[in-house]
Amino acid sequence: MISPYDFGYSWPWTHGHLVLGALLAAFALAARRYKWKWLSWVCLVGVLWSLAGFVIVQEVFRLNKPVVLPGSQFLSSGKGRVLDAGAGGGRSALMVLLARPEARVVALDNFSADYIASEEGGRLLANARLAGVEGRVEVVKGDMREMPLESDSFDAVVGAYSIDHLNAEGAGRALKEVHRVLKPGGQLLFLTIHRDMWVRVAYPFLHGHLYYGRSSAEQRWRSRFEEAGLEVVERGTQPGTLYILCRKR
Ligand SMILES: C[S@@+](CC[C@H](N)C(=O)[O-])C[C@H]1O[C@@H](n2cnc3c(N)ncnc32)[C@H](O)[C@@H]1O
Repeated sequence: MISPYDFGYSWPWTHGHLVLGALLAAFALAARRYKWKWLSWVCLVGVLWSLAGFVIVQEVFRLNKPVVLPGSQFLSSGKGRVLDAGAGGGRSALMVLLARPEARVVALDNFSADYIASEEGGRLLANARLAGVEGRVEVVKGDMREMPLESDSFDAVVGAYSIDHLNAEGAGRALKEVHRVLKPGGQLLFLTIHRDMWVRVAYPFLHGHLYYGRSSAEQRWRSRFEEAGLEVVERGTQPGTLYILCRKR
């Protein structure tokens, strides 16, 4: 469960379940002492849930490890120039660099998220060094809604838990930019949180990204991709994640 990487995610996300579990265990012991049987049972159930949540976050979502590349069609030639839009601490950039050893990645981020704001790419580069792939990644500071990048210059773009963090107008602009910077036939691999059984158990209070509604999120994304000139060629899920692979028309 110990990972050498540090992607900067705050402890309530990565270790919050353990803290809650310890508090609930203390309550359970106190309730037992005062012979409040029902309360001690409720707290014990809470302790079990906390442990399950921690294991899911660490071993199923692998929040402290590089994302596992979903599907097999992404950059199947194994090489090419890839843009990671909203790269953060490098979890998705490492996904590409480790699964596609001949690919190069431009990691774009405006470093607006609180947890990454002071990093300016330093954390991402430190993680790339740990993985031994620092020679194939370059950090660029910029806004994905107005990318400081040349048109038709990338074989693929990854938007992992980043384009979905923008509001509807911002996501539309980012997708137009994705289309602009992709070479003809280039791919977009889009990853977003999927409220499946794993998410419901580990983060029962997670609301999802409400800009897009709960039930029809995938359909709305598909429409947005089509509007931006991106054709959906594959979709699927892995625990906690919906992925959609598109191709520039
Ligand atoms: C949840 S993180 C995901 C990081 C990474 N892709 C991963 O999978 O771990 C979202 C990232 O998007 C970045 N971001 C948000 N809005 C952005 C924008 N308009 N332009 C560029 N980056 C942005 C944030 O700074 C943050 O690093």
